[in-house]
Amino acid sequence: MTNQPQETIDTLLSEERSFAPPAEFQAQANAQSAEIYTQAEQDWQGWWASWAEQLQWDKKWEQVLDWQAPYAKWFVGGKLNASVQCLDRHVQAGLGNRVAFYFEGEPGDQRTLSYAEMLEGVCQVANGLKSLGVGKGDRVTLYMPMVPELAMTVLACARIGAIFSVVFAGFSPTSLKDRIQDQSAKLVVCADGCWRRGKVLDLKSVVQQAVKECTSVEKVLLWSRGQGLRSESAPIPQEVAWEDVVGPQPTTCPPESMDAEDPLFILYTSGTTGKPKGIVHTTGGYLTGALATSKLVFDLKPETDVYWCTADIGWITGHSYIVFGPMANGVSQVMYEGAPNHPAPDRFWQLVETYRVSVFYTAPTAIRAFMKWGDEHPSKHDLSSLRLLGTVGEPINPEAWMWYQKQIGGERCPIVDTWWQTETGGIMITPLPGITATVPGSATTPFPGIETKLLREDGSEVEGAGGGYLVLTRPWPSMLRGIWGDAKRYEETYWSRFPGKYFAGDGAKRDAHGNLWILGRVDDVMNVSGHRLSTMEIESSLVAHPAVAEAAVIGIAHELKGQAPVGFVILRGGYDQTQQLAEELRQFVATEIGGLARPENIIFTPELPKTRSGKIMRRLLRDVAEGKAVGDVTTLADPTVLQGLQKEYEDKEKC
Ligand code: PRX
Repeated sequence: MTNQPQETIDTLLSEERSFAPPAEFQAQANAQSAEIYTQAEQDWQGWWASWAEQLQWDKKWEQVLDWQAPYAKWFVGGKLNASVQCLDRHVQAGLGNRVAFYFEGEPGDQRTLSYAEMLEGVCQVANGLKSLGVGKGDRVTLYMPMVPELAMTVLACARIGAIFSVVFAGFSPTSLKDRIQDQSAKLVVCADGCWRRGKVLDLKSVVQQAVKECTSVEKVLLWSRGQGLRSESAPIPQEVAWEDVVGPQPTTCPPESMDAEDPLFILYTSGTTGKPKGIVHTTGGYLTGALATSKLVFDLKPETDVYWCTADIGWITGHSYIVFGPMANGVSQVMYEGAPNHPAPDRFWQLVETYRVSVFYTAPTAIRAFMKWGDEHPSKHDLSSLRLLGTVGEPINPEAWMWYQKQIGGERCPIVDTWWQTETGGIMITPLPGITATVPGSATTPFPGIETKLLREDGSEVEGAGGGYLVLTRPWPSMLRGIWGDAKRYEETYWSRFPGKYFAGDGAKRDAHGNLWILGRVDDVMNVSGHRLSTMEIESSLVAHPAVAEAAVIGIAHELKGQAPVGFVILRGGYDQTQQLAEELRQFVATEIGGLARPENIIFTPELPKTRSGKIMRRLLRDVAEGKAVGDVTTLADPTVLQGLQKEYEDKEKC
């Protein structure tokens, strides 16, 4: 462990501002009384079962939970189809004409798709997938931008029981290849490109490079973005066109009846080692969690709300809070393809005004960027349709929270700061907007039915105010069921640090009022713009460059991104420490992993600070990079290494 939470806990500012739910909001909220916490506490399995009952089951479960720690089975024996929950149920209830998505492309092209149209589209894609030989249990990798066809393909896979895995369309060919290979995907569904900040991103060429080494891939189904967008890339050998495969298909397709515990999807996330983990989620429990949390945390009123989550479907937030949660609730949503500042920094607020968005969910990194761009951009627009705001992905600093509340929420919208992870599948710690008094910077308390504890290094519990390692002590329906192809790693990563308890990898503090403050990762994982990156992954990438002998990567505090990677690099003999080489290494990492991982800075050094046992002391590197007084150096094998490094860093800062 690096960066023990205790260090940060002691310096955390005490925050005394608190905002009770506005009376008007409370009066109409889906959850109005704190009694639901008590009820859920008295019978947490019954609480979750009451949510599962709101889904449409082909066959009801025989047992709510089978818990053989750390392996959970929820709604044992039950059968259902995930796409039915999100589509057929609403259409059968006569709500087919309700808008599912208001889509807006970056160039300004607009499409409105009703739930009935989504169902027809999903069935056509499902039939298309079947015609390509894809069936139950097969893996399908998706590499697509934020367009309705991505949501359709996700639901089409769910409809036929294929396990889908969305790879964020900013990842490099190598990252995409690794993921395709790890799951032995039979099919890749991709787009030729998309628009980002007025430019075309050529996604097809990424897929073309990635699949060259993927022997499992039989076909690549290519959807064309249109709008004048052209991919420069040559045809992919396995390529088949969407309009040929999907276009002629019938608009109905019987849903496959899936076991509650059949895998629904795999989503890769960074861990503490170089290899990303394929997190596996199953069907019944995941949907139960997504349905319940969306309804209570976002207070969804499907008849009147227009909900907009600005995340990409390539991340868990988009899975749970664009596709499955909101669609299972039957709400209308906004989906936007492009950048928040294209063509101008008010694009988001223009969208909120145009579509009368009422519930808006985004990330602190975006909020900090909006703050920087200036108040005049939101001020230009009528944001009076907003009634609830949310944030996710990283700790939100109280200053950004207050800005969000005032400039976007007009001081009338509650803010839900939601803590959760790819692994948890759904929101775990959050205010309920009609009940909880919110505090800027705190995610407040666990969702009903969830129990958290803060533990000390030795596993003893921190009771009352204080800080420690954040653990979840009971199973919950949307929990991960494992790591694809690596059961051992599942047990080791999450369940061995504090046996029998789920260790999230975060440190947290409980204040005197019982509110929880997430302090960030306590392992070698950093959080860049709300996305997880492992230091090891970037280190492995750096050492793959012929000039690099050894590398250590740390996350440093960054004004906009929250954290940003910085690489300390020892060069091989014969290479000179030039600015040009530093630039090349930054680009190398971006090409190997994806733009998100590009180091902010590369520092050349002849030595790295190590303990006598040879472990790199990243904590000290972080002190150097953040210009802080360096902490305890007594365990260093050679304390003089650090002085050299500090000088190196200061010189670099000067140029
Ligand atoms: O460190 C926590 C941080 O993001 C991590 C999970 O990352 P990922 O699996 O990519 O999922 C992000 C979206 C759910 C957590 O371990 N994190 C997430 N939400 C918050 C947060 N940190 C503080 N406050 C939050 N609200």
